[in-house]
Amino acid sequence: MRWPEALALVLATLVVAALAAQSPTYGLGRAPKDDEIKAWDMAVGPEGKELPPGSGTVADGAKIYAAQCAACHGKTGKEGPNDVLVGGQGTLNTSKPVKTIGSYWPYATTIWDYINRSMPYNKPGSLTAAEVYSVTAYLLSLNGIIKEDAVMNAKTLPEVKMPNRNGFIGDPRPDWHPKPAKSASSPHQ
Ligand code: HEC
Repeated sequence: MRWPEALALVLATLVVAALAAQSPTYGLGRAPKDDEIKAWDMAVGPEGKELPPGSGTVADGAKIYAAQCAACHGKTGKEGPNDVLVGGQGTLNTSKPVKTIGSYWPYATTIWDYINRSMPYNKPGSLTAAEVYSVTAYLLSLNGIIKEDAVMNAKTLPEVKMPNRNGFIGDPRPDWHPKPAKSASSPHQ
């Protein structure tokens, strides 16, 4: 080995050693639990192909909502203090658009996905699949999108037609979701 190379090697070794010495443990964080990984390790796309087995009713969803969601989203989903989840349909093209899952979200499947992974806000991932189906059903029913006796599962949820389904401009990638038809009621066109 020639001098410059030997020197470079020594320097590199020193740098690596210094970096290693500079990586202390802060004692923060913890290994995720299995059920936490399970809750995060699933994404349900617009077509709902990944939806798990299980089913839920509006009536069951009402109970879960009252116990686990109403404190932040209001008794009927309209009162807050956090995001308004109900109402607002037909307001998107006005000067005061009210964006809720009923007025704005294009797919019921991704509402399921969102709730499954991130709600309740203070305890994400804690609901069972059936509970997520139920509470999604309840919110869709409060928004007048499905009937009160509807049962939501991996087959029925993707069939729900959201009011703003065609209000978005399609992603040009061909392998993404189907291109929505143009709609006069869209705020984006
Ligand atoms: C501790 C308060 C809290 C609780 C409890 C809670 N949420 Fe939320 N929720 C939030 C907050 C805050 C946001 C907005 C999060 C953000 O934008 O990042 C939100 C957002 C949402 C959204 C998306 C709204 C939108 O239009 O983008 C949905 C749907 C939702 N919550 C459903 C639920 C359901 C269902 C439950 C009960 C199982 C629940 N939440 C419980 C605080 C809460």
